[in-house]
Amino acid sequence: VNNLVSVDQFSNQDVMALLKQAQAFQNGQTVELTRPVYAMNLFFENSTRTHTSFEMAERRLGLQPLAFNAQSSSMTKGETLLDTLKTVQAIGVDLAVIRHPQNAYYDPLVAANLTLSLINAGDGSGQHPSQSLLDMLTIYQEFGHFAGLKVAIVGDIDHSRVARSNMRLLTQLGATVYFNGPKEWLTEDFTAYGEYRDLDDLVEDVDVMMLLRVQHERLAQANNVSFDAQAYHERYGLTVERAKRMPAHAIIMHPAPVNRGVELADSLVEAPQSRIFQQMTNGVYVRMAMITQLLAHRGLLAHAPLEV
Ligand code: CP
Repeated sequence: VNNLVSVDQFSNQDVMALLKQAQAFQNGQTVELTRPVYAMNLFFENSTRTHTSFEMAERRLGLQPLAFNAQSSSMTKGETLLDTLKTVQAIGVDLAVIRHPQNAYYDPLVAANLTLSLINAGDGSGQHPSQSLLDMLTIYQEFGHFAGLKVAIVGDIDHSRVARSNMRLLTQLGATVYFNGPKEWLTEDFTAYGEYRDLDDLVEDVDVMMLLRVQHERLAQANNVSFDAQAYHERYGLTVERAKRMPAHAIIMHPAPVNRGVELADSLVEAPQSRIFQQMTNGVYVRMAMITQLLAHRGLLAHAPLEV
């Protein structure tokens, strides 16, 4: 494939191959390119982790990232995203990594059969495939399998591209997914992927407690939305008291950025059960694996990845 835009593209075999490749990069594997390869990270929504981590992955693979600033680009003069990509492709960009607020913004780009490769770094409340893969790597490193694991996804589920990608991959890989959060943030039918359960039951029964960020920027777009952080924490948050009731082997995950004291207690971010910073570290390796798959497809790898 020349595009990695949705987890719906991944079979279980694809996921495992990407995770194995990511682990090989973590263990020091390297690649050699057949020629200079240029990447551009086009972010139309703010990002710290995904943007930095894709650029780190590109540099570690030997790609050369070119700067792109949406605010100073000719898209402010009305140039479309498709014409922008055709432009940077004509200039010599091989890989575009895109984050955009519009769900499925990538559909017309994929339909255009561009020669540059495309990775979706998050579309609105649609998909976040690289986040999902780094979450799968984190879970796999911890448990060595997915089948039979119980994973709670808690919080702002309807606005969350992380939830949407993870519920698909986790159930496909054989895990059981449960949900909790404000019912008004569960407007889509999530019952195809898992059951809504009481949070106080869930904390005692899960292997993975995955909290989702309250997306204040998307709530602000809705009318008349008031938000009480303390009330949210008490009702839907992982409080210190709830965390004490988690099984000893269970882990805490959050895609971040974290609203400390809202989705989880401030002190739990750095707690021994937390894998939040490990998730970020893993992000670099899974993004290296995703980019490598596209480079291989384009014949831009001199040979298979090498052990050091
Ligand atoms: N988890 C995540 O996507 O973080 P950023 O928005 O900082 O990239």
